[in-house]
Amino acid sequence: MVELRFDGRVAVVTGAGGGLGKAYALLLASRGAKVVVNDLGGARDGVGKSNFADDVVKEIRDKGGVAVADYNSVVEGEKIIKTAIDNFGRIDILINNAGILRDKSFLKLSEQDWDLVHTVHLKGAYKTTHAAWDYFRKQKFGRIIMTASNSGIFGNFGQSNYSAAKLGLVGFTYALALEGAKYNIKVNTIVPTAASRLTEDILPPDMFQAMKPELIAPVVAYMVHDSFEDTAQVIDSTLGYATKTYFVRGVGSPLKKKPSDPVTIESVQQQWSKVVDMKDAKHLDKMAEVTFDLVERLQEFEDRAKLDGDKNVYWKNY
Ligand code: NAI
Repeated sequence: MVELRFDGRVAVVTGAGGGLGKAYALLLASRGAKVVVNDLGGARDGVGKSNFADDVVKEIRDKGGVAVADYNSVVEGEKIIKTAIDNFGRIDILINNAGILRDKSFLKLSEQDWDLVHTVHLKGAYKTTHAAWDYFRKQKFGRIIMTASNSGIFGNFGQSNYSAAKLGLVGFTYALALEGAKYNIKVNTIVPTAASRLTEDILPPDMFQAMKPELIAPVVAYMVHDSFEDTAQVIDSTLGYATKTYFVRGVGSPLKKKPSDPVTIESVQQQWSKVVDMKDAKHLDKMAEVTFDLVERLQEFEDRAKLDGDKNVYWKNY
């Protein structure tokens, strides 16, 4: 098998002072990438500042790799990208990984807890990506990773702020993937589950031991390699396993019997079980498909009604 390398590529990994980001930075550097190891160095809730990115840079350099530390907050993402340009003259790969937690049940969640989590995860990813975007466009190459969470995709008790921000990054990925397509900018999302300070009091101890960030790093590294052609993928990975996650839409139901009938609260109630029935649900790739699929389904409903001998009637037993 040919070794996949990153020689000549410059990668920025945010929040790379520990946990998953550190594993990404070490792996990319070991394969030839020059790495900006960004980390504000705060506590788990985002408070404080320190230089623990230095330890990761030292580890990379000790192993013969090339790296530089950056202590800016992702909220000032343009400064992090500038570190890449100032030190290495370019930027090719951006891994938006920095994150904090401010878990609280919703009643106790303050506006500050909401804002700070959104600012670091969502706005931080916006800031770094926006600063890198024009470099990517001009050189017709860019690889971007967003970091979502199953807490965002499925929701998690006590994490309303985090869940909302993390799912926001999935929408961000899908939209940017479209805008980046003609410039060879691939935008994808990792949904990790790994042992780190964010999960040390959440995961059972035996699982915590097994869920090494190093098992996820190769998935992320593959998704930022030159050879990686996919975009808009949301990849869930843990324990040396990976799978794609995506939204599906059900077949649904018309909400009136005949085209000329009004939609009423009662007709919605009547059809509700069909509205939420996900049997035969399918994935739609693009906004255009969403509209096309709807037109196609409405036509199918009419055709089916006609076959049943009820001309122009969407469903029977209304
Ligand atoms: P971690 O706490 O070890 O890593 C996050 C890093 O981001 C920390 O080193 C922290 O100092 C840094 N950081 C925080 N705010 C920053 C800011 N404003 N600017 C720059 N750096 C900042 O935690 P972990 O688990 O490695 O998390 C990495 C990413 O993965 C996060 O986005 C997290 O939400 C996400 N994630 C992790 C999961 C897990 O199971 N560990 C599950 C789902 C998502």
